[in-house]
Amino acid sequence: MGDKTTILFLIITFFISNIALIINTCMSKKIKIICDDLEYNLEMTENKTILELALEHDIDAPYSCQGGICSTCLAKLNKGTVQMDNNQILTDDEVEDGYILSCQARPTSDELEVNYDEV
Ligand code: FES
Repeated sequence: MGDKTTILFLIITFFISNIALIINTCMSKKIKIICDDLEYNLEMTENKTILELALEHDIDAPYSCQGGICSTCLAKLNKGTVQMDNNQILTDDEVEDGYILSCQARPTSDELEVNYDEV
């Protein structure tokens, strides 16, 4: 009885002390970015845009205004879903065809493929 209580206590202690790591692991998203004929397989553990992730990894992704106005950061979403914070330039048809403003696009699915070369 005492051993079972000790084991249970250790398991609970482990989960509590690692809860942030467990949540991050469960929420991490796999993002493939294709840019200049190079493929980057990345993980995103925080809420950020595709462009922010690309720039953090020194990917030469195009951008200018970072406000959803100019479309310099245009990319094609080949897999997965995103939510754009702001979109003042893409039509509904372009969005339906998979075009995204990467400076405004935050992943809403666990796996994404974003291609900057396909625009
Ligand atoms: S950089 Fe201008 S819309 Fe994304």
